[in-house]
Amino acid sequence: MRSSIGLRTKLYLLILPLILVVVLLSGVLSSLAARSVLVPIATRLLAYKAEQLRDYAYSEWEALGALGLSETDEYRAAAEESFRSYATSLLRTESEMILVVDDEGRSVMVIGAVPPADSAGPAADARVRDLSPGWFSGDLLGEDRVGVVFRFDPYGWRVAVTERQAVFFTESQAIVRTHIGISLVATVATIALVWVFVGYVVRPIERLSGTISEVERTQDMSRRVDVEFADEVGLLGDEFNRMISSLEANYSRLEAAIDAETQARELAIAREEETLLLLGRVSDFRDKETAKHLERIGTYTGLLSRLLGHTQEQTDLLRRASALHDIGKVAISDTILLKPGKLTPEEYRAMQQHTVFGYELLKDSKSAYLIKGAEIALTHHEKWDGSGYPKGLVGTEIPLSGRIVAVVDVFDALTSERPYKAAWTPEAARDLIVSERGRHFDPDLVDAFLANFELFREMMG
Ligand SMILES: [Fe+2]
Ligand SMILES: [Fe+2]
Repeated sequence: MRSSIGLRTKLYLLILPLILVVVLLSGVLSSLAARSVLVPIATRLLAYKAEQLRDYAYSEWEALGALGLSETDEYRAAAEESFRSYATSLLRTESEMILVVDDEGRSVMVIGAVPPADSAGPAADARVRDLSPGWFSGDLLGEDRVGVVFRFDPYGWRVAVTERQAVFFTESQAIVRTHIGISLVATVATIALVWVFVGYVVRPIERLSGTISEVERTQDMSRRVDVEFADEVGLLGDEFNRMISSLEANYSRLEAAIDAETQARELAIAREEETLLLLGRVSDFRDKETAKHLERIGTYTGLLSRLLGHTQEQTDLLRRASALHDIGKVAISDTILLKPGKLTPEEYRAMQQHTVFGYELLKDSKSAYLIKGAEIALTHHEKWDGSGYPKGLVGTEIPLSGRIVAVVDVFDALTSERPYKAAWTPEAARDLIVSERGRHFDPDLVDAFLANFELFREMMG
């Protein structure tokens, strides 16, 4: 199945996560890098203080020793006081603390930030006693602390120079926060840039595909793509515009050709119809019939055909071809055709040949009308009961066209005036046709004629 996700969405889905990953990763990595530089610096600072304090303690003790005063309680107290004051001078923050315990774990002095009263005590002091000299990190006096421990053996002391962990890492945490802030700003700015950039790249493509679907939907070939740049998409747009212009031109030419063809066909049909009528009149001129007779035969035939449920095309074919029913009379000699009196049996047989002559004349034509005319010419004097001519066909052996023209030809002959007879009334003609139902005429056609007799009467003109 083809994906229906638009190009714009695809680009966002592809680029945005990539940017987020890159920006956040670089933020995290640079924070870690800053931290890896800052923490050793802070550590060295704390170690340096411890070193200073130890050196001071030893130099004091050695000075007392040199003077032979180290065992004197008075001088020792002064030395401890001097140690305390030097230690205090080393403290830089409110949370820094220097803790001194003796070998039994008893607190000798606490310099700097005093931890909450209930967390201080023998257990906490014992913890300092257990610490081995060097760097430590962990719980001390109820707080997370880091620091450096050294031994001062002359007095049996353990000294811890410590700082609260949170304060110790404050600077590096501030740097991490700054990095996160910068990363966020960079992310937002990059997303905004991507938004603008993707729009800039994708808009022409969207415009092109939009126009193509519009043309497809509306079939309106006057639409063109608005080409903005001369890049690859612009080339596509130009190409599409050229193609649609050429299609539009071809389409107009095709429409004009179809129009011309339709007109030509309509003209050809009109001419053919006119020719058929003229052809029919050739025979009727000799028979003293009028053009009106052929028109009425056409009208009645068309009506009966429609009543039988034929299509417009079938009806037109029968209506036009009916004019040719007596075309064969052109081959009948004037002495027979124009004889005022009754025909002899031979003359009557010769007269009957007009059906065959008409058929022979038309049967090989390429025109559907003339071929249908041949069929009608041959069979319009056949009778349903088989007593007609020329072949004596019975019932549905007679083509429907011949059966139809048989009914309407008799109806029109009866209701028309002739030199030897007056015109019958429509009702008298109808009664005769009904009386010939199943004899001369197809019963179904007589029924249709009778049921719609009023229509036939209206069409008599
Ligand atoms: Fe005839
Ligand atoms: Fe006729």
